Amino acid sequence: MERTISPTKAEMARAVAILRRGGLVAFPTETVYGLAANALDANAVRRIFEVKGRPSTSPLIVHVDSVEMAQNRVVSSWPEAAEILARAFWPGPLSLVLPKGPQIPNEVTAGLATVGVRSPAHPVAQELIQAVNLPLAAPSANPFTHVSPTEAQHVRDAFGDRVECILDGGSTSVGIESTVVSLVGPRPVVLRPGMISVGELEKHVGSVDLGGSPSVSGAHSSPGQHEKHYSPATRLLITARPPAGRGAYIWWSAEVRGIERSVRIPSDPPGYARELYSILHALDKEALDFIAVEPVPDTAEWAAIRDRLQRAAERQ
Ligand code: TXA
Ligand code: MG
Repeated sequence: MERTISPTKAEMARAVAILRRGGLVAFPTETVYGLAANALDANAVRRIFEVKGRPSTSPLIVHVDSVEMAQNRVVSSWPEAAEILARAFWPGPLSLVLPKGPQIPNEVTAGLATVGVRSPAHPVAQELIQAVNLPLAAPSANPFTHVSPTEAQHVRDAFGDRVECILDGGSTSVGIESTVVSLVGPRPVVLRPGMISVGELEKHVGSVDLGGSPSVSGAHSSPGQHEKHYSPATRLLITARPPAGRGAYIWWSAEVRGIERSVRIPSDPPGYARELYSILHALDKEALDFIAVEPVPDTAEWAAIRDRLQRAAERQ
């Protein structure tokens, strides 16, 4: 069930003050919670990498409140495909990779000449960016390689008081990270699949390439493709025949008998994506021997979910 939660005026004012003096604020987006710093302040951005334990070779996504903020303060060019996709999907779970503007420090982009930018749809995220009036660099607010947070409590559990301010906006509605599309080559390339599918992008910009596999895009240009990503600490298996032992089985179509923890997840992709990470966070606390996940269909609407499950399972 969705909670409608939003920070008080005083909490919002405190978050703005912290960001203006170079501190970090965790905030809700419609995908997952982000860990934000002023994207124009190299020292503030360095702190994100420290707190997350993230290698400085992984570029961050910059969050904006509008196309205008993206154009004027983040990127150095705005091709027609950016205009079309931003008008179609912003605010929303789509990140565009474009040539970076000179104001954006190299810390944000891990030295790349390009920058990822998106306008998040969550009202608290929009309110924060408008109030601070700065583009905000923010990765997902989890320790590097762990499961992304979909509730404020996940951020508290992971970082405690290492993050001064956590704005609570309830449970996120999309539940997995944004689709990342590069617009710097001759054709758009999806670097990370998300709930905005290739098919939906193609309705607007013609044919789109898939560059998401590590062999194609390389870990450097696409850190979300690191193998150890999105992983719970508990061993995760994708199988319709979970082994014996103290384990959980996450199923959407067919329950199995004799499993210690049987967890039903919605059978539609948006519902599945919305609940997946919060189920993984909860099961991870139970000290189980394994988390088995029923395989999901091999169709386009499940592509982003398949990608996250495979990466979570690859760790072992
Ligand atoms: O939904 C989301 O995108 C969330 C929320 C907080 O907005 N953010 C997120 O950030 O997932 P992070 O840092 O965990 O993942 C950033 C992804 C990387 O996997 C990478 O593929 C892509 O963004 N990225 C960022 N800048 C890039 C660049 N210059 N070139 C290529 N890929 C880039
Ligand atoms: Mg992440």
